[in-house]
Amino acid sequence: MTTNQTWNPEAYARNAGFVAQLGEPLIDLLAPQPGERVLDLGCGDGVLTEKLATAGCIVVGVDGSPEQIAAARAKGLDARVADGHNLPFDGEFDAVFSNAALHWMREPDRVIAAVARALKPGGRFVGEMGGAGNIASVWAALVDTLARRGIDAAAFNPWYFPTAEEYHARLEAGGFVVKSITLFPRPTTLPGDISGWLETFGGTFLSPMDAATRAQIIDELRETLRPALLTPEGVWVVDYVRLRFSASR
Ligand code: BEZ
Repeated sequence: MTTNQTWNPEAYARNAGFVAQLGEPLIDLLAPQPGERVLDLGCGDGVLTEKLATAGCIVVGVDGSPEQIAAARAKGLDARVADGHNLPFDGEFDAVFSNAALHWMREPDRVIAAVARALKPGGRFVGEMGGAGNIASVWAALVDTLARRGIDAAAFNPWYFPTAEEYHARLEAGGFVVKSITLFPRPTTLPGDISGWLETFGGTFLSPMDAATRAQIIDELRETLRPALLTPEGVWVVDYVRLRFSASR
């Protein structure tokens, strides 16, 4: 499957700055120690990578998006374009950290194997991603809206949202000992309108369309989602569900 998802660092910072902010508790779970070598897998524009560096870690950030990597490098970080399914590291890191990125990687066993390879023996893998039921209302609206145009959204689904049981089993099969793994709802308040969220995260579905169709679809999605996700105070709250885990090799 190919995805048309691309990232614009300015739009990402505007529409999705909350992603890094809400990922901060994951740094506590990692408990980074000064001098540790840490890989930030799916580092995006490097906001959390920078926090790990400030904690005294020697951090390398990797991301599939050249635009996001350029934004991370502009912060002075060691950031490189790489595919999480095929990481170019062997026994180098004390820990691999990943916030809100693993759900974009559709072959989890390859990712887990690449992480295991990148770690030193005893190294930790601490991550958070979308879990089973994540953005269920947005997904249902996408499926319906695209079906009305004869498009099967499932055929283009760029996301992987596992249950805790499934991911636990995959981690164990990949040679990890799981210390904790939890699936929990995290209703997420958007900084602006749902249309900004859809434009930022729905590129796989929307970017192949011409501008007029894209605008029409976003309008339709907005109207479908309004009763479930727009509060009486005029704030959009999306039904995120997170899967958070800590494991070691
Ligand atoms: C997430 O962080 O869970 C997510 C973000 C964008 C699209 C899908 C999921």
